[in-house]
Amino acid sequence: MKILLGAATGLWALCGLAGTGVTAEIFSEQERAIIQSFGPWPLSLNADPSNNMSDNNAAIKLGKALFFDKRLSKNNDLSCADCHDPNNSFADGQALNSDHGDAIRNTPSLFNLRWSNWFGWGGEADSLWSQSIRPMLSPEEMALTGEKLRNLLDEDRLLASQIQQVSGVSIAAETDEVLFVLIGKLLAAYQETLVSEPTAFDRFRLAQETADLSSSTGFSNSAKRGLKIFIGDGRCFLCHFGPMLSNGEFGDIGISQFISKGKIDRGRYAGIKILKSSPFNRLGKYSDNPEKVEKTRTEHVTLQHKNWGEFKIPSLRNVSKTGPYMHNGSLATLADVVDFYSNLNEERLHTQGEAILKPLSLSDTEKEDLLSFLRTL
Ligand code: HEC
Ligand code: HEC
Repeated sequence: MKILLGAATGLWALCGLAGTGVTAEIFSEQERAIIQSFGPWPLSLNADPSNNMSDNNAAIKLGKALFFDKRLSKNNDLSCADCHDPNNSFADGQALNSDHGDAIRNTPSLFNLRWSNWFGWGGEADSLWSQSIRPMLSPEEMALTGEKLRNLLDEDRLLASQIQQVSGVSIAAETDEVLFVLIGKLLAAYQETLVSEPTAFDRFRLAQETADLSSSTGFSNSAKRGLKIFIGDGRCFLCHFGPMLSNGEFGDIGISQFISKGKIDRGRYAGIKILKSSPFNRLGKYSDNPEKVEKTRTEHVTLQHKNWGEFKIPSLRNVSKTGPYMHNGSLATLADVVDFYSNLNEERLHTQGEAILKPLSLSDTEKEDLLSFLRTL
C-alpha cells in the first residue's frame, strides 16, 4: 500500500477519504443540514446596545478587576470569582454552593453569555448587566448596600475616577441605583469576553461544510453515532439547538422543584415576576440606547401556567467541564444525565416537555455513544 501511494501524505489522504465514506454513509442529507445549523462558532461579536460600555477595552479591564474584588460584598469576603471560578469554567464544581450560606441553585458557567436572551435559571434578568447586579444586592450572596458601595468609591479614589472616565458619568451626583448599574455594566463588559473555544465537534462540522475531512480527526465513530441519537430519536436538538446548543428559552424535563424545608422553586414562573418588576430590565430607564434595544422580548413575556417548573435550557457548549448538572445540581455526571433522559419519568413532566420527551431506553452502547458526542462539545 505504501508503495502504491508513494508518500505518507498519500496515506493521510486515504484516511481522509475513509472518513468521508463513514460520514456520508451514516448521515442523511437532512441530518447534515441539522449538523450545519450548530455553527458557525463563535457567533458574531455584536455589542450589547443596552450597555454603552459593551466592547470597550477600558471597561473590560475594569470589569475584570471588579469581578475579583471582594470589597463588593458586605463583609469584604466574597467576590464573583469565588463562586464563578476561572479555573473551573467560571462555575464552582459543586452541586449547590455551600461555602457562603446554602445556595438553592447550581452555579452556572459564565461562558458564551453574550448570546443568551435570559439570565438565571428562571430568566430573572434580560441583560448580562442586570443579572450582574442581582448577586451584589442579594442578601444571601454579596449583600452589598448603596451605602457600602458609596463608601468604597469614596475611599478608593482611583477606582472612582476610572469608573467616571470610562462611563462618562459623574458618580458623586448619582443615585445608588445608578452606581449599581455602572458596576453591573462594567462586570458585563468583562463577562462578554468569556467565549469558549471551538471544539472537536466544531472542527467536524466545519470539515463537513468544507468537505475537508482530514481536519475532522478527534471525532470518533462513537461520537458520530451519539450525534445521530442527539439529532434523531433522542430529540435533544429540539431544545438544544443552534450554535449555542440551546434555544435560549425555558423547558421542563421533570427535575425536582423541591428545595429543602418543603419550599418549592417555581422556576420561570417566579422568574417572570422578578424580571417584570425589576427597575433594571431592558424596558427601564437604565437601559442605554432605547432606540436600538430590542424590547419586545421582555415586553411580550406574559405569565402562563406552563411556566411553573420551567428552567433555562442550558447551552451544552463545554458541558463536560461544567458538572454537576441541572438547576439544582442533582445530577453529578454526564453519565447521570444520559441515564436520566434514558429512564425519564413521564409522570413528572408538566408542559411542552411532555410532547417532546419520551424515555429513550438506550442500550449501554448507545449511552456510551451519546456521552462520547457530548464530550466533543
Ligand atoms: C455565592 C455564589 C455566587 C456569587 C458570589 C456570584 N454568583 Fe453568579 N450565580 C450563582 C448562582 C447560584 C447562579 C444561579 C442563580 C439563579 O438561577 O437564580 C448564578 C448566576 C449567574 C449568572 C447567570 C448565568 C446564566 O447562565 O444565566 C451570571 C451572569 C452571574 N451569576 C454573574 C455573577 C457576577 C457578575 C457576580 C459578582 C457580582 C456573581 N455572579 C456572584 C452563584 C454566585
Ligand atoms: C424539552 C426540551 C429538552 C429536550 C428535548 C432535551 N433537553 Fe436537555 N435540558 C433541558 C432543560 C430545560 C434543562 C435544564 C433542566 C433543569 O435544570 O431543571 C436541560 C439540561 C440538560 C443538561 C444539563 C446541562 C447543565 O449545564 O446543567 C444536559 C447535559 C442535557 N440537557 C442534555 C440533553 C440531551 C443529551 C438530550 C437528549 C437526550 C436533551 N438534553 C433533551 C431541555 C431539554
